[in-house]
Amino acid sequence: MQIKDQPGAALGVTVEDFDHTTASEADIQALKRTVYTKKIAVLKGQDLTPARFLALGRRLGRPETYYEPMYRHPDVPEVFVSSNVPEDGRQIGVPKTGKFWHADYQFMPDPFGLTLIYPQVIPEKNRGTYFIDMGRAYERLSEELRAAVHGTRCRHSVRKYFKIRPQDVYRPLSEIIEEVETRTPPVVRPTAFTHPMTGETVLYVSEGFTVGIEGQDGEPLEDKLLDRLFEATGQLDDTFAHEGIHLQSFEQGDLLVWDNRSLVHRARHTTTPEPTVSYRVTVHDERALYDGMRAA
Ligand SMILES: [Fe+2]
Repeated sequence: MQIKDQPGAALGVTVEDFDHTTASEADIQALKRTVYTKKIAVLKGQDLTPARFLALGRRLGRPETYYEPMYRHPDVPEVFVSSNVPEDGRQIGVPKTGKFWHADYQFMPDPFGLTLIYPQVIPEKNRGTYFIDMGRAYERLSEELRAAVHGTRCRHSVRKYFKIRPQDVYRPLSEIIEEVETRTPPVVRPTAFTHPMTGETVLYVSEGFTVGIEGQDGEPLEDKLLDRLFEATGQLDDTFAHEGIHLQSFEQGDLLVWDNRSLVHRARHTTTPEPTVSYRVTVHDERALYDGMRAA
């Protein structure tokens, strides 16, 4: 296994000669440490079935199966499928996922530490995923903004981006909203927490899932503060030119592993619809999202 920095990139490394079936426990630990510190590892030359992709994920942690069944791979439910390419005339997984800034499972009581994406059908023109390192973003905040978020907490919900399922057709919208709020009630987390693997402070907000901010005593604060955080971190920049935004490209055979605690990400916007398929496995590592986390 060889780990190399990506030339000219602020984030990410490439990893050559990684084989999950023969990697030693020391290799696995080294890989995970690299993901926590460099944020993204691109494993090169992977050729895996969905079941083997899951087996690779299991080497890194305990898989979390996505809570909505329509995203699951028909044969390997732990594999989440993003696809706009029907198989035998049948929709597999869900098209157009994640086209908004978010951390995976940010709206859930127990988000996992690691996300693995294994692109299957890669667009010609608009390939890649955007990332923002929210540890660095916290460091770059003005002193005034850092002081403003001190001791505050944020509310996260899937409500803005919950996707209507086939079985929702003809259901009243109010009933679907009620179901979303009951099944996935908003969770409240510190606006900034200490990354348990690196000790850095992470600003845990995303434009997609963070829906409110409150003060020390639970009093709601103005949404304007959240907007200022989104603005400062690059999440409102539609040109994606903000200095904090990293575009991670990939090619066939690449498998990306990233730090889901400190990175927010966003699927690349495509103006022309191109065939895109990717598989995702998500795993819990040895620690909770942050130490001392309590459920919602
Ligand atoms: Fe995602």
